[in-house]
Amino acid sequence: MHTLIKNILAAAEPKDAVTVKGWVRTRRDAKGFSFLELNDGSCFGSLQCVVDAGTPGYDGIAHFTTGASAVIEGKLVPSPAQGQKWELRATKIELVGLADATYPLQKKGHTLEFLRSIAHLRPRSNLFGAVFRTRSRLALAVHQFFQSRDFFYVQTPIITASDCEGAGEMFRVTTLKGKPDDKPEADFFGKPTFLTVSGQLEAETFACAISNVYTFGPTFRAENSNTARHAAEFWMIEPEMAFCDLNGDMDLGEEFIKAMARYALEHCAEDLAFFSKFVDKGLGERLKFVTERPFVRVPYTEAVEILNKSGRKFEFPVSYGQNLQSEHERFLTEEHFKSPTTVFNYPREIKPFYMRLNDDQKTVTAMDVLVPGIGEVIGGAQREERPAQLAENMKFHKLNEQDYWWYADLRKYGTVPHAGFGLGFERLLMFLTGVSNIRDVIPFARTPGNAEF
Ligand code: 4AD
Ligand code: MG
Repeated sequence: MHTLIKNILAAAEPKDAVTVKGWVRTRRDAKGFSFLELNDGSCFGSLQCVVDAGTPGYDGIAHFTTGASAVIEGKLVPSPAQGQKWELRATKIELVGLADATYPLQKKGHTLEFLRSIAHLRPRSNLFGAVFRTRSRLALAVHQFFQSRDFFYVQTPIITASDCEGAGEMFRVTTLKGKPDDKPEADFFGKPTFLTVSGQLEAETFACAISNVYTFGPTFRAENSNTARHAAEFWMIEPEMAFCDLNGDMDLGEEFIKAMARYALEHCAEDLAFFSKFVDKGLGERLKFVTERPFVRVPYTEAVEILNKSGRKFEFPVSYGQNLQSEHERFLTEEHFKSPTTVFNYPREIKPFYMRLNDDQKTVTAMDVLVPGIGEVIGGAQREERPAQLAENMKFHKLNEQDYWWYADLRKYGTVPHAGFGLGFERLLMFLTGVSNIRDVIPFARTPGNAEF
């Protein structure tokens, strides 16, 4: 068995026989010996290996080039070099796979754009190793957060016939060949189907039976917006709680973000230190701030007033009844409140049919959580639980009631106030790492015009 470099670097004492396997980061030859820096991605650091000229395998040292894979056996001893506790005195080196001079990752820093063009190799870079280790740990943190609060994990379908958000941004799923006389009834499912934009409606059915649930899975949107915060395929976490109102929903959303920041600070310290140094100098302080302070809460109407009185010239003008654009969201959270901000009670026209109509008959119980650097990270609502009002909401939004008969049934049989939200996992990761483009926190980005790899 070989040992991961993560565990070797954390060793408490020297070790006689150690085997490591990984990829060569650099090699430096000196008179009579060579230094090999080996990395296996298990942690940020690499292991310095010192290989004397007489070591078995040394005659092939010229092939141990950057990117080549190798197995190295040796003794772990305290390193005389600055900045590293251990080094490996090699007793045998073995080349596993060659990497020739065309290996595109070199020691010098590369641009993120270039690294995206080699998405199959970018996890070997410092930045992307750190991003994807953090992503993995946070996925566990998400499950722990909900499971420790008695939420059940529900796997909602990826193929669906209903457009939850009503925004018409769905990818079609079909086995029809695109002939002019194709009939929807002849399609695989007997009706038009799509990749899901949200598991919410299905999560609601489970919340209205087993109380507290969450989903965590891939979500698809055919939004043709080539921005730094939109992907066509992203992961969403959607909790749903029975017997819960908007306040309880906002409480959970804010607590969730705080818990994720706390988890990252505690469990991803080494990678966070790298992000703070090379990606976003203010990261550590921002995350601490988030864990320590309450979020600001402001009704939509007041948020619009603040924006209008700000004297700021926005690219998109602000007026009541319009959606907040990213520039408005970021002004509120970054400049005005200088804090994560939850905006609630939006006009019903700009929000989906399932949100509960407020007594003012104009606004719905929507809430969006905005964070600095990103804007909206959570979108949620208390749901319309009154059967007659739900039917009216569907009319208002020009939806066909029959299409949602099963959803309306939840209101017909033992309806309860309930609420939930969706959090974009990639946007959360952007917030926690300081990485400013969504393409750089997802293993293989799917964006308009791009499905390579
Ligand atoms: O605000 P949205 O559209 O809300 C819903 O889908 C609700 N059904 C959620 C619910 O109440 N259960 O999306 C929720 C979150 C956004 O706040 C954002 O973080 C993320 O999903 N999101 C995207 N992330 C990346 N790329 C996109 N194209 C995204 N669209 C939404
Ligand atoms: Mg939204």
